Amino acid sequence: MTTLLVIIVAFFLPMLFLLARTTRRRRTCASKLPPGPMGIPILGDNLGFLLALWTDRLAEWAGRRVDKYGPVSKLSLFGAPTVLLAGPAASKFVFTSDAFVSEQLKPFKRMIGERTITQLAGGEHRRLRGAIAQFLRLDMMKKYVGRVDEEVRHHIAANWAGRDRVTVVPLAKSLSLDLIGSLVYDIDSRDVRNRLKRDFVDIMDGLWADGIGLPFLNLNRTTRACARVRGTLTEIVRARREAHEQGRRSSKEDLITYLISLESRDPAEDHVFVDDEIIDISMLVMLAGYDTSSVLITFMIRHLANDPPTRAAVVREQEEIANSKASKEDPLTWDDVAKMKYTWRVAMEILRMIPPLFGARRTAVRDVEYDGYTIPKGWNALWLASVTQMDATIFPEPAKFDPTRFENPSIPAYSFQAFGGGLHACPGNEFARLETLVTMHYLVTRFDWKLCCKPDGLRRNPSPSPTKGLPIRLEPRI
Ligand code: HEM
Repeated sequence: MTTLLVIIVAFFLPMLFLLARTTRRRRTCASKLPPGPMGIPILGDNLGFLLALWTDRLAEWAGRRVDKYGPVSKLSLFGAPTVLLAGPAASKFVFTSDAFVSEQLKPFKRMIGERTITQLAGGEHRRLRGAIAQFLRLDMMKKYVGRVDEEVRHHIAANWAGRDRVTVVPLAKSLSLDLIGSLVYDIDSRDVRNRLKRDFVDIMDGLWADGIGLPFLNLNRTTRACARVRGTLTEIVRARREAHEQGRRSSKEDLITYLISLESRDPAEDHVFVDDEIIDISMLVMLAGYDTSSVLITFMIRHLANDPPTRAAVVREQEEIANSKASKEDPLTWDDVAKMKYTWRVAMEILRMIPPLFGARRTAVRDVEYDGYTIPKGWNALWLASVTQMDATIFPEPAKFDPTRFENPSIPAYSFQAFGGGLHACPGNEFARLETLVTMHYLVTRFDWKLCCKPDGLRRNPSPSPTKGLPIRLEPRI
């Protein structure tokens, strides 16, 4: 009898207490929870969402929800209760409120690391963002132009010149990683960069399939590739630490040495970055820049092949700049890049219609109110770039490709979301702009091209890619 009483007290009573608390909590929240069903049990809304993601129809998928339930609605995604927040005002709320943290899915954390910038919040996040910004802020771009010019010319001479056919996707990715490796990490060795490139291809193949719960795709390959990248970065971190300690390398030369130097520069700081963290951070920065600018460049190349008037206008702008040079060998300068206004509007329009990152989710760290609804602690909030960027009330005739819409400086705040916004807004946007403009300059002034596969469709995994990798036929212009 005593044993029975002990079991009741030790086990069932706490259970009853927990149950009562959860029910009470549900009751207090229930009246204020956003509208919308929670999807099919277990599967939730995963199928509809994933299908829309793969076929690049997220705007339509979310649009149907918005028509039915309004801009704030609940659903169940990847095993977690989630609130979809659509439109600039709702997105601004997610971007800027400190009630949300950016929480990656578990498999993503396992592979890329627990303490990357996207996972941090508050002071730790600000400190790391500040460190990364040392290498990505606008005034650094002015210093980088010459090196970007050199890398792009080298890339074109090695991979495009003298060929009548190339496949764009792998080349654009390779160039993006070369530029980050060279400018942010000061990795000179082409051998090391090539190793990283090969491994990043394998990582991208499986990372998201695993992250969204499709563990049957390429997982071993992805895990092994992550381990190899960590190995390569470990060697680099060790060498940089040694060089820094011996006074052979300054913190200004690359992000890794900068992170190492924080330790000696400010010992009073409560947190210094240990090697494992520096590796996590580096993997994330490489990944963030690798699979985004390359997507923009790829879809610009595809669009220009299909839209002769836009292409002619881009060529005109770029040829004017090329013709203003005393010699063909003169590198582009920051002033030249500043003149590429139309070309950048074309890029912005590509980013509006095909954002490389479809959006992101955040997790509420406390119960939070928005628009009369409660988002309970632990729930996720989801923002989707294409929902806002394809909204006809903000961007009239959203399906029409029209770069001139970016001549209008009064596009409402938080409406163009390709680079996110608020606390986690992309710090690499200027880097992406420089990389894209310099690359497009040399491509359009040196080559004409036609698509080999028409139409070359688009799939998202989750970043968008032409289904066949965009093979094109090249004709030299000079
Ligand atoms: C066209 C190119 C690019 C696009 C469209 C893009 C897009 C984005 C977006 C939407 C976010 C916010 C994600 C979120 O809210 O969770 C983000 C964050 C980030 N991006 Fe980019 N990005 C681009 C290029 C780059 C480049 C070239 C780099 C680095 C070299 C970079 C580094 C980062 C980093 C480190 C973050 C995390 C910021 C934080 O959590 O505070 N991005 N990017």
